[in-house]
Amino acid sequence: MEIRNFCIIAHIDHGKSTLADRLLEFTGTVTRREMKEQLLDDLALERQRGITIKARSVSMRYIHQGTPYEVNLIDTPGHVDFQYEVSRSLSCCEGALLLVDAFQGVEAQTVANAYNAMEHDLKIIPVINKIDLMHARADEVTEEMESSLGIDPDDVVRCSAKAGIGIEELMTAIIERVPAPTGDANAPLQAMVFDSNYDDFRGAITYVRMMNGTVKKGQKIKFLRAGSVHEVVELGQFVPQRKSCTELTAGQVGYLICNIKSLADVHIGDTVSTPGNDAAEPLAGYQRPKRMVYCGLYPSDGQEFSDLRDALERLAINDPSFEFEPETSDALGFGFRCGFLGLLHMEIVQQRLESESDIDLVQTAPNVTYEIVDTRGNKREIHKPQDVPDPNDIAEFRQPIVRCNIVVPSECIGTVMKLCQDRRGILRGNEYLSPTRSMISYDIPLAEVIYDLHDKIKSGTRGYGTLDYELIGYEPANLVRMDILVNGNRVDALSIICDRGDADRRGRAVAKKLKSEIERHMFEVAVQAAVGSRVIARETVPAMRKNVTAKCYGGDITRKRKLLQKQKEGKKRMKAIGSVEISQKAFMSVLSSG
Ligand code: GTP
Repeated sequence: MEIRNFCIIAHIDHGKSTLADRLLEFTGTVTRREMKEQLLDDLALERQRGITIKARSVSMRYIHQGTPYEVNLIDTPGHVDFQYEVSRSLSCCEGALLLVDAFQGVEAQTVANAYNAMEHDLKIIPVINKIDLMHARADEVTEEMESSLGIDPDDVVRCSAKAGIGIEELMTAIIERVPAPTGDANAPLQAMVFDSNYDDFRGAITYVRMMNGTVKKGQKIKFLRAGSVHEVVELGQFVPQRKSCTELTAGQVGYLICNIKSLADVHIGDTVSTPGNDAAEPLAGYQRPKRMVYCGLYPSDGQEFSDLRDALERLAINDPSFEFEPETSDALGFGFRCGFLGLLHMEIVQQRLESESDIDLVQTAPNVTYEIVDTRGNKREIHKPQDVPDPNDIAEFRQPIVRCNIVVPSECIGTVMKLCQDRRGILRGNEYLSPTRSMISYDIPLAEVIYDLHDKIKSGTRGYGTLDYELIGYEPANLVRMDILVNGNRVDALSIICDRGDADRRGRAVAKKLKSEIERHMFEVAVQAAVGSRVIARETVPAMRKNVTAKCYGGDITRKRKLLQKQKEGKKRMKAIGSVEISQKAFMSVLSSG
């Protein structure tokens, strides 16, 4: 059978899931009655956030001018944190629908995704979606696509995923423009692992794109990078539910089930081949997922440590890009240092933990991964401020730099440039997409981006600015560890790594913020920020004058009870530093103080 493999790339909310649903319906893969809204976004959390987190695939059958086709849609995640997974999905396709909202126009991720697809040599079918909107501006958006990406206006397909307009034309374009996969069914087995998920009954399910050869049920396969050998217990395709078959051959997209108990044993980007001497070459482009953001997670009640560990283990089974290891903090007791692909990934994991288990969490300020070269020339990675060695031992302190592409309304360029410059950004490019919209590129330390840049760009552009970034490497910087002391005790969980020039300002801000968050005690509480032994800021929380409940004596007993109850609830999220109690809110406030 003829095969076409394609994906849909789009900026968030431009209608990717809706269009996928419409294509499944149009090809009869799913009937309208069966159609759940947004079928491909099947994780509850994804639906909540409206972001496709994990790539999925679905095989459709379609007859075009009398010829039957197998048309495989590979879904790609839309967020920057998951770029590596996007890139693996792209290498499984020959074509991509570049979907742009007829009102919103070209956005930062549209450009990033389009370049990515071009680098993978995909045939791009430009699509303008939502033409049913009253305020659609399809002609202008076509111009934006032409000027920013060199798209030929004659190639653009216009559709409305919601109203079902232009779907047949789109299907025809996929069949006629996307090249058929090349690959030899008789060559040695070579398949790309582009995704995996975990099934409670079947274990790991590995998503593959067959590049060469044939894989059959019952045969032995080898993951070339991991080096592990397994027997194929079941294989098949998603239509969209799992449907088993007896073999998959070059060009097809499907799944393998091999009795693998943990997702950690399936690496996205790995190559499936056969054990022995006639194995194929591993496919190019394999990378380990790199955790770029770390934070500490602690149960606010020390008793819940083992519950938290169980919850994290459960999570890690389903998400191999998340990692955790135990750590102890003087202030917070026993907890875990957790690594994430980015900030969004961190938020998702945290939300899952909170919704799937009933543990009260304290989270420390996130930090990026740093590199330190010590005076003996040894290089190591730093995942938390506490691990920063004595300044005298550091020969070079390096931080990750990202290339940011920012699409903004032209009148906001000045504001956004200032934001980037204030965050040590270096201008790399500035071009007009249309008379009213521009794209600027900056190289900026990732720490500054995760700190507040995204929010600041949104608020500085009334929500219209969009940001996308990719890691370009590590560069030496003048960084220091800043500590926070409460009554002379260092609160290890509040230490941060920042630029030396920023330390004073941030120290003052953190101390001030903490002062306003720490409740009064029976004694004076001193809050200090320090770099090494040098105190750079100090605030004092005055002592409390009387007992909070004193004024209730002899008075309204219910009110007193309420007050005590409130205090008790508050206590649950409290941590003692020496004899000072600090709330989780106070810890979190360090994050938001600039
Ligand atoms: P992510 O999953 O967040 O990446 O978003 P998405 O690109 O998959 O977008 P989704 O399909 O969830 O659509 C976003 C919003 O746009 C939803 O409210 C859709 O109902 C709406 N939408 C999608 N296609 C159309 C269209 O053709 N016309 C109109 N008017 N609205 C549409």
